[in-house]
Amino acid sequence: MPAIKFYKHDDIPMEMHKVKVVQQLTLLPADQRLQKMKDAGFNTFQLHNGDIFMDMLTDSGVNAMSQEQLAGMMKPDDAYAGSESFYRMVDKLEEIFGIGNCLPAHQGRACENILAERFVKPGNCVIMNYHFTTTKAHITRKGGHVEELVKDEGLISKSDLPFKGDIDLDKLEACIQAEGADNVVFMRLEAGTNLIGGQPVSLQSFKDACAIARKHGIVSVLDASLLQDNLYFIKTRDPECADRSIRDICREIADQFDIIYFSARKFGLARGGAILVRDDELFHSMEDLVPMFEGFLTYGGMSIREIEAMTVGFDECLEMDVISQGPQFIEYTVNQLDEYGVPMITPGGGLGAHIDATQFVSHIPQEEYPAGALAAALYICGGIRGMERGTLSEERNADGSERLASMELVRLALPRRVFTLSQVEYVIDRVKWLYDHRDMIGGLRFTHEPATLRFFTGRLEPVTDWPDRLAAAFKDAFGDDQ
Ligand code: F0G
Repeated sequence: MPAIKFYKHDDIPMEMHKVKVVQQLTLLPADQRLQKMKDAGFNTFQLHNGDIFMDMLTDSGVNAMSQEQLAGMMKPDDAYAGSESFYRMVDKLEEIFGIGNCLPAHQGRACENILAERFVKPGNCVIMNYHFTTTKAHITRKGGHVEELVKDEGLISKSDLPFKGDIDLDKLEACIQAEGADNVVFMRLEAGTNLIGGQPVSLQSFKDACAIARKHGIVSVLDASLLQDNLYFIKTRDPECADRSIRDICREIADQFDIIYFSARKFGLARGGAILVRDDELFHSMEDLVPMFEGFLTYGGMSIREIEAMTVGFDECLEMDVISQGPQFIEYTVNQLDEYGVPMITPGGGLGAHIDATQFVSHIPQEEYPAGALAAALYICGGIRGMERGTLSEERNADGSERLASMELVRLALPRRVFTLSQVEYVIDRVKWLYDHRDMIGGLRFTHEPATLRFFTGRLEPVTDWPDRLAAAFKDAFGDDQ
């Protein structure tokens, strides 16, 4: 997306694609949204998509596909074993990342399962800049523990630091000393660090951290699910990379790592996943896990059509005109809301705009899930579905106490190439209204609490009748039909 200059208008982000296929949306009135939220147990994962106007839950598997991707899906080489589509994908990944050993898996967490099965034994440590929910769940399921060593500044919500996903190199050395290098089974760096607001990692930090891991004989793993956003930020925020191509930067990052895995629901703009393993011996030691958990080694549980779409999608994820749309829409959203005084994670990152619920609803204690409550309120007031990324997304400590998240965020994801700027303006407007009525939002408590990944299937209720009062205030402001 080039920076298009306007004549009589402030510059705004510009879509570098046009719409060819559409899905009709409906906006249920506030009364019905209130009822749907109650039916969903105040958990936005439990809403039906047909009841949602702006689905900003995630960018995972819901990015718009290009005509080239759809065309690719028309020529799959369907085979249980030896599909040519798979080999086309492997060739493309080798061209991009320089690694030809590829283990296919049906999505990102399936890759994480395979990595955890292969590496993690009880008591082992995995070092990360920051965890992702499913990654951590797989490691702890095998008896391992996660050490998160993102720099302290990464957790400060309002900031102008360009690379808030960087790992703290001093903490990294100290952690390796404390754990013992043999007990650290791998170091995982997450590009476009999801749970702290889609914040990028700098090229230098990738290089320095991997050099430390190498020195100690620790396997380095890149979670490249959000690499396309991270690449955009390296090119636009690191002056030394301004004149380099995205492919060139991508290859330099890849060259640092022993293993690269990704969710192709994000990187690849389709639905799938894969693990790339540099060392042949290590690769062969993991191969048997793919047929066991996923499917044969040349489809890994994926539809061959999706493999064709991914292969095209990888190239698109390295094109500036494609990968700039998300970050630029996010920056626009974040800046508009920040100017109004809404507490946002700044600077805007990838994946989505993130609201700091700790400040937005500072009157709600963390034990009453402020980010979950804010996400529920946003649906009631706008038919907008965001995602809680806070204490609800954590798991309880072994003694049953709450593990309070270091950040309480509501994520408004901007799936790539999906929304127009007027839809984004609508979201900004409703968030502003809600911010002006934030005192009306109250807390939530569980009525059904699963032991793991409780944010997916848990059910909650409001601690008071605040949702009814909020819906009534909204109707007073906008009328019965909005
Ligand atoms: N790693 C990162 C950084 C992710 O953001 C995700 C998924 C995964 C791994 C797991 O991949 O979903 O294909 O199994 N993130 C989605 C999200 C779920 O909504 O942020 P998956």
